[in-house]
Amino acid sequence: MNKLTIITPDDWHLHLRDTPYMEAVVNHTARQFARAIIMPNLSPPVRTCAEAMAYRQRILAALAALPAQSAFTPLMTLYLTDNTQVEEIREASQSEYIHGAKLYPAGATTNSEAGVTELAKLDRVFEAMQEHGLVLQVHGEATAPTVDVFDREKVFIEESLSKIRKDFPQLKIVFEHITTREAIDFVRACDANLAATITPHHLLINRNAIFEGGIRPHHYCLPIAKREQHRQSLLEAATSGESQFFAGTDSAPHSRSSKESGCGCAGIYSAFSALEFYAEAFDQVGDFTHFETFLSRNGASFYGLPLNQGSITLKRSECIIPDSLPYPDSSLIPFRAGQTLHWKTADND
Ligand code: NCD
Ligand code: ZN
Repeated sequence: MNKLTIITPDDWHLHLRDTPYMEAVVNHTARQFARAIIMPNLSPPVRTCAEAMAYRQRILAALAALPAQSAFTPLMTLYLTDNTQVEEIREASQSEYIHGAKLYPAGATTNSEAGVTELAKLDRVFEAMQEHGLVLQVHGEATAPTVDVFDREKVFIEESLSKIRKDFPQLKIVFEHITTREAIDFVRACDANLAATITPHHLLINRNAIFEGGIRPHHYCLPIAKREQHRQSLLEAATSGESQFFAGTDSAPHSRSSKESGCGCAGIYSAFSALEFYAEAFDQVGDFTHFETFLSRNGASFYGLPLNQGSITLKRSECIIPDSLPYPDSSLIPFRAGQTLHWKTADND
């Protein structure tokens, strides 16, 4: 297989940040993907429909300023807090621009300080989301400091996600950026109301990559990469074609200076070559049968959105990922900087 043409894909989990940083990254996604769920963990976070609409306008303005305009649609989501009002959920569910609400357990990841401190506080919110059909996107990691960092996803499933699933069986849930065999088993044991996104970096690296010859801050993200056996399970799930698994890059730009620091930020910037990374992952399995299903079909069908009209072509061809990309006040180090990619999208020629 040397050439792949698929329906234009979507990224179901993306961090764009805000002006002036967004301008440095949005084109990387827009040139490969038709739509993306734009994560709301700005500082301050995007908590209301009015804030989401204003953020959407800023994204559209950034896109309009690009030299070659791409038809890219940002899909907005709200950041849930202890104080999210049921009224806000109702309004969000009626908006054609808002497609979900994101649960960040407080302290779980970048800009999650305003997140949810206790799940019980969201009972009425979950009830309203279930009633109105608004998708719940979940950062699935336990936050108690006593929980080992490599066990946080597993413990979250046991202590929190199973309970949400049981208490709100009709609630549509996306278990974001899954990293473990346990998460895959959990997804498979649930019905079609629960799905999961899988990132390119969790398909390509295991936890050794964080410590290869020294500490590698550009391989640090949350949830943290796990053992090789988990990566193998993720590869199997992503390439299986099962409707509950789809692409979400979790591309999360942080400046070089904030990554290469005594306390480096969590986040891997994959958007520059996201589709090529997914192709590399499928290539490792040697089976592209469900490449389009994973990238362009399953997510749209879970979110109840039409498939995209266009298509995109990838060719087997070598190219080097830049060492660094422009980013305000610093630079941005892309995932696998300086390494060789074996796939190339046509418009990257
Ligand atoms: C994300 C970020 O930087 O916003 N970081 C990450 O490591 N994935 C937040 C998130 O999705 O956890
Ligand atoms: Zn994320």
